[in-house]
Amino acid sequence: MLSLTGLSRAQPNSAASISVQLDSPLHKVSPMLYGLMTEEINFSYDGGLYAEKIRNRTFSGRWHSQPAHWFLFEQGNSSGTMEIDDTTGPSEALPSSLLINAVKADSANSIGVYNEGYWGMAVHPDTTYRASFYAKTDQSNMGTVSVELVSNDTGKVLASTKSSAISADWKKYDVTLQTGKIKPGAQNHLRLTVAHSGKVWLSLVSLFPPTYKNRENGNRLDLMEKMHAMNPTFLRLPGGNYLEGDEIQDRFDWKTTIGPLVDRPTHPSPWRYQSSDGMGLLEFLEWTEDLNIEPVLAVYAGYSLKGAHINAGPFLNPFVQDALDEIEFATGGPDTKWGAKRAELGHPKPFPLHYVEIGNEDWFDRSGSYEARFAQFDKAIKAKYPGLKTIATMPLKKTKPDMQDDHYYLRAVESYKHASQYDSADRNGPKIFIGEWATREGSPTPNLNAALGDAALMTGFERNSDLILMTSYAPLFVNVNPGGMQWESDLIGYDAMSSYGSPSYYAQVLFAKYLGDTVPTSTATNLPERFFYSVTNASTKGKIYLKLVNGSSMPQAINVRIDGGKALKSEGVVETLGGTNPTETNTVTEPERIIPVKAALQNIKSTFEHTVPAYSIQILELSTN
Ligand code: AHR
Repeated sequence: MLSLTGLSRAQPNSAASISVQLDSPLHKVSPMLYGLMTEEINFSYDGGLYAEKIRNRTFSGRWHSQPAHWFLFEQGNSSGTMEIDDTTGPSEALPSSLLINAVKADSANSIGVYNEGYWGMAVHPDTTYRASFYAKTDQSNMGTVSVELVSNDTGKVLASTKSSAISADWKKYDVTLQTGKIKPGAQNHLRLTVAHSGKVWLSLVSLFPPTYKNRENGNRLDLMEKMHAMNPTFLRLPGGNYLEGDEIQDRFDWKTTIGPLVDRPTHPSPWRYQSSDGMGLLEFLEWTEDLNIEPVLAVYAGYSLKGAHINAGPFLNPFVQDALDEIEFATGGPDTKWGAKRAELGHPKPFPLHYVEIGNEDWFDRSGSYEARFAQFDKAIKAKYPGLKTIATMPLKKTKPDMQDDHYYLRAVESYKHASQYDSADRNGPKIFIGEWATREGSPTPNLNAALGDAALMTGFERNSDLILMTSYAPLFVNVNPGGMQWESDLIGYDAMSSYGSPSYYAQVLFAKYLGDTVPTSTATNLPERFFYSVTNASTKGKIYLKLVNGSSMPQAINVRIDGGKALKSEGVVETLGGTNPTETNTVTEPERIIPVKAALQNIKSTFEHTVPAYSIQILELSTN
């Protein structure tokens, strides 16, 4: 028997069965059960979701005086140099720039620089690209900067334009580039050249393709669509370790991530590269708006990854104030200081916010300071925002938080064991947020075995969704190019041109698509090893969703019995995600090897037999008359 308290596995020669009692509901399904979590890791934003195509646009990455990912271009008889100049930049936040010293140049012999992008630069036919840069010159007659998209393979110019004449003071230049009937491809670069000798300084060079919902500083279309297809309900932001930073000064200091890009100084991510901060706090919030989901805002709580922490007390107050200001920036009306700032930045409407997470994985803080740090934040947040629920990042002894964030990174065999972990958990403690979880098998993205482990875990999430209110897989994204990945097994992979969902991605798509609203009583007998199920009822839609996970190499016949509801229609639907081999997977070149396949189910009655194929996840959608 499988119930909320236990599970008996197969006895030899006994038929496996699942029996569902629809008129005996156990509890509601949490409507926020499935959400998203991301951070700047694996080139998730820069070189990923954030649609900017220029890598190292502010020249913060460098090798001695040479900027990373930028190269000198000398046409014909031109000659000159490029080097980083730390004495001048377009703003206080960006005090450096790239100096092009054109010693010899004219209209037939131009000189300049080009950027290689994030492992290439995707360019499509009949498309308008927006480019911009900051520049100044020491010449009164330097003239314009030519901006060109160029093929790496042929040297052919795919689109070109000219800026207005460059002036002596720092100024922003905006241009558009229009492609024609070209072949789509990623082996391209952006080139900026001058046709006159003299010095030109450049900074914040930017190139954007069309973005999701046409946001000016927006996101890649394909990745937004992939997230949309997951039917998420929230986004936990901005991390993860990215929230904390290696050192306190490297934290996600949200006030330095808002406003014009030229006023954002950029900062090191703990995942070993510099974050452009193009994805700042407002962009995160707009991302939630575009997907029609709500933010779960994680605030920096005074602990950074290399162990530095600020004890509770007066020294923590400025960080608590930063968190209160951050909440006000997200939710305050235009009559508040930070709500007015948001309105000034173009978003007068407050964002919906119900959950604030205090820190991230504070069990790493061996000083034991979290309990008191949490209490200081919690008290201040609740005093100003009594309606908000706070989330602790580890079990607490003195305080009962509204919610506790548990994280799981497991192998498939461990996921199978953890699937029933919450069946007997204490219902008097805090509610549970599983803010990071994943079955980690497969690189860069998880394989079928991982998807089977994930699906087993998700049956447990659903069965216990009176306690587990929210879950979000991590990490969500990986740039699959060499050097792109810092963490193995990431849900969605991509390069400059295209993206794909892993088998684990499709497992989540299915579980969220067939969520249901109530968990009815159910029992199971003689389920074999590596077999898992959950059942939910969507009574208003007249649907019952039976989720079956067979992690074994053998097909499994199950006797299903549905009692206590209206008669079932004889035709149902089954969606199957499976394969022949647990290490099978999807890749950027074979993106749809393992995807859900939909079929009709016939002869459904209150009792019926169903066989679940080996290595597969199936959702049976049954309809009532
Ligand atoms: O998801 C990758 C990392 O795992 C997160 O940044 C961190 O919170 C966890 O340890």
